[in-house]
Amino acid sequence: MAHERFGCQVDGVTISRYQVGFATEQAARRGVGDSVRFHFQNMLDTGFETGAFGGIWTNETTMYVDLFDLFAEFSRLLEYGGRYVCITGCSNDVTGGRSKAVSRIDDHYNCNIHPRSAYFRALAKFDLIPLQVLDLTRSTIPYWELRARSELATGIEQAFLQAYREGSFHYLLISADRV
Ligand SMILES: C[S@@+](CC[C@H](N)C(=O)[O-])C[C@H]1O[C@@H](n2cnc3c(N)ncnc32)[C@H](O)[C@@H]1O
Repeated sequence: MAHERFGCQVDGVTISRYQVGFATEQAARRGVGDSVRFHFQNMLDTGFETGAFGGIWTNETTMYVDLFDLFAEFSRLLEYGGRYVCITGCSNDVTGGRSKAVSRIDDHYNCNIHPRSAYFRALAKFDLIPLQVLDLTRSTIPYWELRARSELATGIEQAFLQAYREGSFHYLLISADRV
């Protein structure tokens, strides 16, 4: 979709072989396989050329890795003025870090949800300067309400609803520029 809208080259990275296969097939089916490629790769150490990218985005992925390692790599990959966009769930420093509901989400997905502050510390350390922060928490709640009543429910829905409603968890979009 990014390629179709902006005409850009796209390299997608994941540590799931299944996702690489599925996404590669989708790109071929849409006739964009020359411009849109997927790689079975660790995003902390991609091997791509330094400064080769105008933009990077991650979606619900940063809670699986160390943010300092990750943003060091993204800072290396982005050209000067390049943009990084992150969509993520993060815990609320104001309510004192990890709540019971956030811990349940960590256990369920085997991840390590970072506090909000950790994002801005790690971005600043690697010359990624925030431009916009959108709090999408309220907009994501209807998804979890719907999912809780659907056959797709996995049992973690109430933890998300509790965490979002009590304010111990945010769903944020952060955009930052590489300087
Ligand atoms: C919760 S899923 C989100 C998937 C997708 N972004 C989405 O929005 O549907 C987390 C993804 O992070 C990927 N992931 C976790 N650690 C990674 C790493 N070190 N390098 C690359 N991908 C990683 C997994 O392969 C998985 O696809």
